[in-house]
Amino acid sequence: MSAKRLIASSVAAVILGAAAATAQDVTAAVEARQGQFKLYAFNLGALVPMAQGNVDYDAEVAQAAADNLALLTALDQTRLWPEGSDNAAIDGTRALPVIWEDMAALQARFGELQDAVATLQNAAGEDLDSMRAALGPVGGVCSACHEANRAPE
Ligand code: HEC
Repeated sequence: MSAKRLIASSVAAVILGAAAATAQDVTAAVEARQGQFKLYAFNLGALVPMAQGNVDYDAEVAQAAADNLALLTALDQTRLWPEGSDNAAIDGTRALPVIWEDMAALQARFGELQDAVATLQNAAGEDLDSMRAALGPVGGVCSACHEANRAPE
């Protein structure tokens, strides 16, 4: 093999190797962000039935769920949204391509979620009315982001 061809094939190997790692990284990131959202929903699931009056208000349970949401929404998002992880590029995700046209807008929505959750964290252990009032805006941020950025099931 000529030196030139040897170099060309090593470069190709490096590129292919990198591409394979990237596909794995993309899958891992999709699973991780979906896991994060499942944990959001699980903790919201402690609060919504109380707000609806289907479960008795429990200050400790409400506070724990709000504290968890504060921790979860503080997670850095940078590595969870790699290029090529939208629903036009791969299966197994509902993330719309529009997200990658304006990643700053997505991050801003996560910022809004942190703010709404901070208010909820202050209110959740007070009483039912305070918790309920602070829960609405959190749900509003979830829904607004889904409408703009998540494909229907
Ligand atoms: C900044 C935008 C944004 C915010 C804020 C947001 N979501 Fe989502 N959510 C998404 C996107 C995009 C997906 C699709 C992710 C995927 O399939 O890769 C998603 C997916 C989900 C899923 C499905 C996860 C799975 O198993 O596939 C649940 C449940 C969910 N979100 C709940 C919530 C809840 C509850 C909140 C509010 C506390 C919330 N989300 C806030 C954008 C957002």
